[in-house]
Amino acid sequence: MRKPLVAGNWKMFKLIGEAVDTVNALKSQVADVTGIEIVVCPTFTALHPVAQALKGSNVAIGGQNIYPKENGAYTGEISPQMLLDAGCSWTIIGHSERRQYFKETDAFLNEKIKFALGAGLKVMFCIGETLEEREGGKMNDVLCRQVTHGLQGLSAAQFEQVSVAYEPVWAIGTGVTASPAQAEEAHAFVRSLLRDQFGADVAEGVRIQYGGSVKPDNAAELMAQPNVDGSLVGGASLKADSFAAIVKASLC
Ligand code: PGA
Repeated sequence: MRKPLVAGNWKMFKLIGEAVDTVNALKSQVADVTGIEIVVCPTFTALHPVAQALKGSNVAIGGQNIYPKENGAYTGEISPQMLLDAGCSWTIIGHSERRQYFKETDAFLNEKIKFALGAGLKVMFCIGETLEEREGGKMNDVLCRQVTHGLQGLSAAQFEQVSVAYEPVWAIGTGVTASPAQAEEAHAFVRSLLRDQFGADVAEGVRIQYGGSVKPDNAAELMAQPNVDGSLVGGASLKADSFAAIVKASLC
């Protein structure tokens, strides 16, 4: 049985004070929730204060990106060790915004994943097709390429620290959510790729989160799909009430 993982990706939103206020409200609203892993991923400047505010709660913290070096002359970058030091246990890697705006390739993402895992962070690895790719009948090819190259070389033990987030690019921030059937079809395909490449145990154990316009009113039907094991929530995670409602709708 895979434990659902519900994570909020705050992207480049919230100054420190607002971030702390949000998690203070969130932690009391989800204090009774068991059986779901809850994570928030604030901007770098808010990580440490948010971690302090969440101490002793059932909400964990993640970064949104890492650079695959422990330290050094890499102006503007941040290491997994620094995220751990700030209180993180997770990081997102390969979000479509990083692939699109910062030209991150599958090979570079593979390097980042291995480095983050080696440092002791857990990884949410994002994949997903654009609308053009979907309409051109390339969805499966794109997902296959992203899984094959992004995750190549990981051991079964490393997969215990990895979640895959299927985020169709056309559904991110658009208000257009994949239907439960579309999400299930893609998730089942991703799981079949994991089975073919890494074996049945890895495929059955890895959580596959759905991301892309998840809201309180569509979370339950997405989560009811057999291969949907959680969500990665952008816009609707910015308010404690709506993120808490998504967490609670994920209890099924
Ligand atoms: P959204 O973003 O929920 O605002 O569509 C999801 C994401 O980018 O992870």
